[in-house]
Amino acid sequence: MLLQRKPELTYADVTPKEIYFNRRKFLKAMGITGVAAFAGRNLLNLASPSRNVYAATKFTGLIKSPFSTTEKETPYQDVTHYNNFYEFGVDKAQPAKNAQNFRTSPWTVSVEGEVKTKRKFTMDEILKFAPLEERIYRHRCVEGWSIVVPWTGFSFNVLARLVEPTPKAKFVAFESYWDLGQMPMAKQALAGIEFPYVEGLRLDEAMNPLTLLCVGMYGESLPNQDGAPVRMVIPWKYGFKSIKSIVKIKFVSKEPPTTWNLANSHEYGFYSNVNPNVDHPRWSQATERRLGDIFRRKTLMFNGYQDQVASLYTGMDLKKYF
Ligand code: MTE
Repeated sequence: MLLQRKPELTYADVTPKEIYFNRRKFLKAMGITGVAAFAGRNLLNLASPSRNVYAATKFTGLIKSPFSTTEKETPYQDVTHYNNFYEFGVDKAQPAKNAQNFRTSPWTVSVEGEVKTKRKFTMDEILKFAPLEERIYRHRCVEGWSIVVPWTGFSFNVLARLVEPTPKAKFVAFESYWDLGQMPMAKQALAGIEFPYVEGLRLDEAMNPLTLLCVGMYGESLPNQDGAPVRMVIPWKYGFKSIKSIVKIKFVSKEPPTTWNLANSHEYGFYSNVNPNVDHPRWSQATERRLGDIFRRKTLMFNGYQDQVASLYTGMDLKKYF
């Protein structure tokens, strides 16, 4: 994510990912040898692949989801070392390094607001709500890069039905964990956004079967930098809607505030549906670069999930409600 008032542009922000992440492979592919000019700071992080040391769980017997794409999965190493998780730093390589000791157990998620049954759920309870599925989704960041990830989880509507939203519930507000003791970078002055990180969906968006309550990836529990122990994944929206390390879910009657909209409402709307026809004020959204690819590809309307979600927006001006 790029804010106009971001303190400084990092190496990762301005460097093609192939160079920044795996310069040797890239140089070889480009036929260039003997060049040793790239900054080494971020490359050091590659030596320490980080997994969730507190709750590394391998999931077995995952149900294959009919919503999965058959496109090639992005390698685990790429997906787990090129992250946006501002609580652990604004540089793409920092979350993998700085979130290593993040404590994700014990963990509870409070479900509140306009529901019949307000509840605090432990992770053990959440993991038993429904059979876990593997969903291979395209995931498109507003910055123009994309990944294909085999997530683990189940439709968010399972949780919603369990707590029974009242007729007043029209939106769902999500809140991330925030603790300066464990996340010293999670200060507005450093990250350029307010904390705790908050996000929101319209109730019908939240209830759409594609909306995933996510507890893992690549058949294992989520690495800390990817939002352990539980996050959202909303595949037809830009990545920043997919809030990480959730501690609170509140069903509400009014559109809730969202972090990037609070930071810059001109650039980041509430809906943030992937839309190649609506540019970001500072760049085009017509194409994207899949991590690992050299060339850009066309971005698909609703990130390719048009059949499942276009009806949610019938009659809406998507330029106005961007
Ligand atoms: N959730 C929290 N709590 N903090 C964040 O900084 N970044 C968002 C989103 N969820 C973010 C967050 C952004 S900008 C993106 S693109 C995705 O997480 C990135 O998810 P990934 O690192 O798993 O690819």
